[in-house]
Amino acid sequence: MLNFHESHESPLAPIPESELSDEQVLSELHKLKEELKDQVVVLGHHYQQDDVIQFADFTGDSLALAKDAEKLDKPYVMFCGVHFMAETADILTSDEQQVILPDMRAGCSMADMANREDIDRAWDFMNSCTDEKIVPITYINCAASLKAFVGDNGGSICTSSNAEEVIKWAFSQGQKLLFFPDQHLGRNTCAKMGISLDEMVIYNPNMYNGGLKPEQIAKAKVILWYGYCSVHQGFTKAQVDSLKETRPEVNVIVHPECSYEVVQAADDAGSTAYIINKIKDAPAGTKWAVGTEINLVNRLAQKFPDKEIFSLSPYQCLCTTMYRVRPRWLLASFKAIKENKPINIIKVDEQTAASSKVALERMLAIK
Ligand code: 13P
Ligand code: SF4
Repeated sequence: MLNFHESHESPLAPIPESELSDEQVLSELHKLKEELKDQVVVLGHHYQQDDVIQFADFTGDSLALAKDAEKLDKPYVMFCGVHFMAETADILTSDEQQVILPDMRAGCSMADMANREDIDRAWDFMNSCTDEKIVPITYINCAASLKAFVGDNGGSICTSSNAEEVIKWAFSQGQKLLFFPDQHLGRNTCAKMGISLDEMVIYNPNMYNGGLKPEQIAKAKVILWYGYCSVHQGFTKAQVDSLKETRPEVNVIVHPECSYEVVQAADDAGSTAYIINKIKDAPAGTKWAVGTEINLVNRLAQKFPDKEIFSLSPYQCLCTTMYRVRPRWLLASFKAIKENKPINIIKVDEQTAASSKVALERMLAIK
């Protein structure tokens, strides 16, 4: 019996992406990208797989991609990253532009650790415990509704590239800081700025009143949300210690989403862009153990063969949600644009977008 493609019933029917080989997908993507180059611009976060990143017109960390999005003028922005990044791009681009996330299931487990209902409840409780002004700062890794909360409550967004400047600004606006959803970026940055761990408390949304007594809120300078990145949790102090003992010549550089203990034990910490630049500018022959997502670590190792670059963890620290964006889904999104029936459009509602934009613009004005 003839299968669908061998039958004579519809010899010219296009083959769905799902039936193309990986090579065919890449070759069709190259053709379509060229054909639609005046309509589509592709953004790619550093954690994307190589087969996807090769199609990116712009690559960057979260801050750079937000800044890029603001300047784009093509009608379609294909965002190869995760949901909150595409939402940010939608907020910063014009109403006429459409932002597309090639796989709508590409989320971020950390962003999912804070929601608007929990934040509203926490905010009311915290403000009932103190007369001091609390300034809310959210890491960009969160839903648009939380960016809007921050915009409406005198706060700002930050990324791992500008967290220090944003926190400095926050303390010029009030006496206390609520930092969510990533406790680690909040703790690591505040500690770097000289705030002691004793001045920080953790609010756990899964516990009554966050597990805190009113006097703890009243005393604290920084209230950290109990959120974390499951990928960066994979790096441990034991891994750094063992490397320091066996191979002291290796530089350990990690992302500030790693725990405080890991960041303290490492030689250096910074955003994905910081890590890339640091290794790029290092002399040939230097050795680097890197504590961040594996696609970026492998890409660095390939790009700089004159240096020894490997993951700090022996296990694969892969961001599985970033990895959901596959060339196949990218192709499906390109084909849909070509057919004038775009799919996977990310649209933040008008009111949320307006409040979020206030918070994003505050951040972009700070740094
Ligand atoms: P940056 O690229 O901004 O350092 O962020 C890392 C990250 O986890 C993105 O989700
Ligand atoms: Fe989210 Fe962590 Fe993946 Fe970044 S690496 S997108 S914080 S889950």
